[in-house]
Amino acid sequence: MTATSGERHAGHLLTLHDLTPDTLSRLLDRAQAFRVHPRVTTEFRGLLAGRAVCNLFFEASTRTRTSFQLAAERLGADVIDFDVATSSAGKGESEADTLRTIEAMGLHCFVVRHQRDGAVAELAGCAGPGTTLVNAGEGRQSHPTQGLLDALTLRQAKGSDFSRLRVLIVGDVRHSRVARSAVQALHMLGAGEIRLCGPDALLPDDDALVGCAAMQDFDAAIAGMDAVMMLRLQRERMQDGLVASLDDYRRGYQLDARRLRLAAPDAVVLHPGPINRGVEIASDVADGPQSLILQQVANGVAVRMAVLEMLLAPRADRAE
Ligand code: NCD
Repeated sequence: MTATSGERHAGHLLTLHDLTPDTLSRLLDRAQAFRVHPRVTTEFRGLLAGRAVCNLFFEASTRTRTSFQLAAERLGADVIDFDVATSSAGKGESEADTLRTIEAMGLHCFVVRHQRDGAVAELAGCAGPGTTLVNAGEGRQSHPTQGLLDALTLRQAKGSDFSRLRVLIVGDVRHSRVARSAVQALHMLGAGEIRLCGPDALLPDDDALVGCAAMQDFDAAIAGMDAVMMLRLQRERMQDGLVASLDDYRRGYQLDARRLRLAAPDAVVLHPGPINRGVEIASDVADGPQSLILQQVANGVAVRMAVLEMLLAPRADRAE
């Protein structure tokens, strides 16, 4: 896909609903092309030359932050990795003023992570008309580029016809923006079946369930599934007491070798990271032959290149 071919050139990527299914598929095609290109580290440095991208992360991140930085650099953009912790935010500067201050230096794009749902859209409302915001994970509602990289990983493993694909998402679905964006992406790609599994207190209490089967028995839910996406127990986003004890949680919801054998023989295992080894996933499964966890990480760079190119590459019909 080129920057001129997407039909919705909204300035921002706030959720996957900003994309049509067709644009989503073409983003995956473009990411795949980046992924397999032998000179991806040098070949595309002209695409965003002269553009400046700022990582503005109000919440911790390893994979997303690093991969957005690498993606922007591989496209030739100037990149500022803004450290909120050591910034004037500590002196009381508001988030909007922080954004406008950096924007005044000539930034074109902010990649924003925030702990609060709606914060990225609010900041987008404070930005100037030519500035693009990309949601890099917000609250528990959305993490669009994670949804894209999970879809790309599944497509690489299982082919581009999602209509027969059976995907199980397990664990702390209630607090998971990863699960919500994965479900959106899977619906847009026409996935055959999506099951969500976890203890009742961690199943969604909103409409993230629509179009998915909710199950509490992991052994029953995993039977015959093609892909199992495990989620971290997100204790920083949950009220105390939702999980009685870690031992109970492990017994009910850890993906271990025995449980994995109940899935389809060629089932694949995903996890967005960070992993709590020995809690939601056993180490031998996380590091085993069916695990695509590091492939997800590698795909993150390619997907973010495709997104930044779509949103920022100069287009003939856009006033520069
Ligand atoms: C996730 C996130 O921050 O939403 N991590 C990621 O982006 N790969 C998942 C998590 O924190 O559990």
